[in-house]
Amino acid sequence: MQVRKAVLPVAGWGTRFLPATKAMPKEMFPIIDKPVIQFIVEECLSANIDNIIFVTGRHKRPIEHHFDINTDLEKHLEQCGKTELLKNIMEISRLINPIYIRQKEQLGLGHAVLVAEPVVGYEPFIVALGDIIVKDERNVLEKMIEVYNRFGKSVIAVFEVDTKDIPKYGIIDGRHIERDIYIIDDLVEKPKPEEAPSNLAIVGRYLFTPKIFEKLKITPPGKGGEIQLTDAIKLLLEDEAVYAIKIDAKVYDTGTPIGYIQTVLDFALQREDLRDELIAYLRQLISNNILQTDTV
Ligand code: G1P
Repeated sequence: MQVRKAVLPVAGWGTRFLPATKAMPKEMFPIIDKPVIQFIVEECLSANIDNIIFVTGRHKRPIEHHFDINTDLEKHLEQCGKTELLKNIMEISRLINPIYIRQKEQLGLGHAVLVAEPVVGYEPFIVALGDIIVKDERNVLEKMIEVYNRFGKSVIAVFEVDTKDIPKYGIIDGRHIERDIYIIDDLVEKPKPEEAPSNLAIVGRYLFTPKIFEKLKITPPGKGGEIQLTDAIKLLLEDEAVYAIKIDAKVYDTGTPIGYIQTVLDFALQREDLRDELIAYLRQLISNNILQTDTV
């Protein structure tokens, strides 16, 4: 069956960014001038997925406004003759026909995915986390869909992480079958490095067969008392094979302050209009000894 839908869980509190996230979703934080969530929507679109289901919560209305038409703003930009900006703003509102569904209680990522079941129905679907930007030469979702089309089973994107970063991720135990493809034997959510079966971490891009919903319904609370998606995948392994695709992409976790700063800096350094001034500023910081040269 063709993969047509993506679920974007965006209901989290964003506690690591309070008080900024008291009224503003972390998914709307700008990477210079584009909110994080737009990168993820564009990633879905370039993999031909335009059925986007947002699992939202309280204070997430700005996401809905962002993908909606703002006639007042469009009129204003037209009157000022700001045609480029107008084109950009119009494009965003017409990118997708989104569906918003509320996760009324924050019971974990697994629970958020389960909330989308009535909209997804009985078909394969993507889950893309709302605060992770993946930059690869080729669209990662597209690669995952290819693996799904071959095997007809769930596929999870993984990447190699340093030992010290293992406790931040779900980690897989997999058998290498060919090139960048593994078959998963086990998974563990945020293990201690000494207990981790590998250094292959779950990126935040998943493609599931609908059977995952069955498993999510019987997944007990796990790490942190939350219903973990990783635990549901572990249950799924009892019934079906689950594949992993190892990607060699740059993964930006905008959900932590340091990850967010790094993302903004990296993207700014790639922008022609900002690069030179930013480098000059960083040089100035170094020469003022605010930064030690050996730490840059
Ligand atoms: C979630 C998942 C974890 C995955 C990570 C990717 O954790 O539970 O398995 O590796 O996303 O970013 P979170 O970062 O939401 O705590």
